[in-house]
Amino acid sequence: MTKKKQIKTIALLTSGGDSPGMNCVIRSITRTAIGQGIKVYGIQRGYAGLLNNQFVELNASSVGNIIQRGGTILHSSRCPEFKEKHNREKAAQILDDRGVDALIVIGGDGSFKGALALEQEQNIPVIGIPGTIDNDISGTEYTIGFDTAVQTAIEAVDKIRDTAASNDRTFLIEVMGANSSSIALKVGVCTGAENVLLSHQKVDYEKIANAIRRGERRGKNSSIIIVAEGPKPGRSYDISHVLEDLHHISSRVCILGHIQRGGSPTANDRFYGSLMGQMSIQALLKGKHRHAIVVRNDHAECVPLTDCSEKSDHAMKEFVGIAEELSI
Ligand code: F6P
Repeated sequence: MTKKKQIKTIALLTSGGDSPGMNCVIRSITRTAIGQGIKVYGIQRGYAGLLNNQFVELNASSVGNIIQRGGTILHSSRCPEFKEKHNREKAAQILDDRGVDALIVIGGDGSFKGALALEQEQNIPVIGIPGTIDNDISGTEYTIGFDTAVQTAIEAVDKIRDTAASNDRTFLIEVMGANSSSIALKVGVCTGAENVLLSHQKVDYEKIANAIRRGERRGKNSSIIIVAEGPKPGRSYDISHVLEDLHHISSRVCILGHIQRGGSPTANDRFYGSLMGQMSIQALLKGKHRHAIVVRNDHAECVPLTDCSEKSDHAMKEFVGIAEELSI
């Protein structure tokens, strides 16, 4: 259900882990809104900043020269306090005091859950824009930052391959994504990895060892195994030890870590970020008050926010197994 309310003032925030391309979204929202005569507030440090009343008014020049910059000029934070109803009531009061008619949230599934609760309980119109490197939100095939993170990881893996090949070594390279294997799958295919270890899958040491031995028999002197991070970083060290103990295969571990969250956004992240920002204002002007801007079949669309408030590993699932198939 949509209900029409005149939109004169909006606020936007970036929430959770930052991702390259968030600045493109901020720029696009601000400039589209200003073009429509709407006043724009940026809230600093996500929901935590909302609760602390950290508002800055944005104009066309305050979002100049940021399209190419990684991170978020508004800063971001994780804010578990926003799960509590009394804090959402406080947030609604602060938004009301500022005369804010709608809030745009750029972040992941957790940030969308907060936005949904704010709309449902406090009647604040909200629009969500998926921004996380993990590409792990239900209802969308793409999240802003994923493409840049993948590109950064590919460049790192290519470099590691040079040293792996020169010293005849096996490398376990762990990529980010928490419980999502999206980054691992795409990086695995794009770097010609010998194996991709998914975050939810039990590690099949026998299979890894067989693949390495098979490669050696046909003259391959090095292997790259991409490891999806899982619930916490570092599991590659355990995997490396077990490979050594069970199969006498020695390996080096490289955990790429937060390098994947930084850097200048790629064309895809700039393009979708710009498009989604613009569409969020158009959606509000059409009276859509509990929606998200997503990508489906390569097209940006406006869908109910309820489609997007779960963590989901669907985006790259159809590509499971391709890397291994191509690396025989
Ligand atoms: O933003 C997503 C993400 O980068 C995950 O891939 C990673 O597991 C997590 O955030 C790291 O979070 P933090 O920066 O809070 O350590």
